[in-house]
Amino acid sequence: MALPSPLSRLALPLMAAPMTDVSGPELVIAACRSGVIGAFPTHNARSPEELDVWLGKITTSIAEQDDAAPFAANLVVHRSNERLRADVECLVRYGTRLVITSVGSPVPVLEPLHDADCLVFADVASLHHVERAIEAGVDGLVLLTAGAGGQTGWANPLSFVRAVRARFDGPIVLAGGVPDGAAVWAAQVLGADLAYMGTKFIATHESLAGERLRAALVDATLDDVTLSTALSGLPANFLRSWLEEQTAQNAAPVEGFTQHRLLTRRHVWSAGHSVSGVTEITSVAELVRRTRREYEQARQATAATLAGTGR
Ligand SMILES: Cc1cc2nc3c(=O)[nH]c(=O)nc-3n(C[C@H](O)[C@H](O)[C@H](O)COP(=O)(O)O)c2cc1C
Repeated sequence: MALPSPLSRLALPLMAAPMTDVSGPELVIAACRSGVIGAFPTHNARSPEELDVWLGKITTSIAEQDDAAPFAANLVVHRSNERLRADVECLVRYGTRLVITSVGSPVPVLEPLHDADCLVFADVASLHHVERAIEAGVDGLVLLTAGAGGQTGWANPLSFVRAVRARFDGPIVLAGGVPDGAAVWAAQVLGADLAYMGTKFIATHESLAGERLRAALVDATLDDVTLSTALSGLPANFLRSWLEEQTAQNAAPVEGFTQHRLLTRRHVWSAGHSVSGVTEITSVAELVRRTRREYEQARQATAATLAGTGR
């Protein structure tokens, strides 16, 4: 199925994934101006008033470039999010074309966003979630799979994409463990329309992450990533050394997710298995250029194999 029109004109089938304390206006603008969807969680703006300022900046900068990709906003739709209604109103005011919902049912935001011509994709981590999201009437699905940075899924990406493609013909985004352009191509071969890339974008100049985290990502491999529910109550992947430091400082593990808990524990060192693809700190434009090159090389390698000339 072709991607809906706001998403069809991309330089690469890629989204810079929304990340708490990482994605701000500069990263989003740089991603969109490089031709890939730039996404951010609305809670990265400290208040609906600040969100208004961010959206003004993002929409103005994107409008200056004809071939810029659209941006996407991520809403935590958990019942504990007291800002949900105010953030939705703000997104509608700025003509947002794509919202991704996470940590809960998309139902409360579907009607106001659809009325405003905004596509709604839901984060899903199981086939049960998939069925519920499709029943609710979402426009697309973001499949959270094993090895993702931040809140992670459990399902194997090969099996999950194939199982969802068998029952849903709308847009599918593969999230988790996408380290380069070859993996973006692999996601499309499986049947996904787009890939999320999160961890790689942490190590860009435009991210809100601190210098120490960016440097630690360059040094880390996937062997340095570990899974824990201790920080937000949800299974998430972290750099092991950082998590051990937190445990040594007796940071109390939390029981169950709330939006407040997510936002009080800030600047966590979260990363996914794709950290093995982080080899240096670079600009967003350069990261997208390289990913595009890797993607084209992978496509050509596939074509050569099909033509019987591949090794
Ligand atoms: C530091 C960090 C923060 C994240 N915060 C959010 C968030 O606020 N909302 C969300 O939907 N996903 C969040 N994620 C998950 C990403 O959107 C995405 O699913 C994940 O990064 C994909 O895996 P990758 O890092 O291997 O590319 C976060 C991921 C990281 C690494």
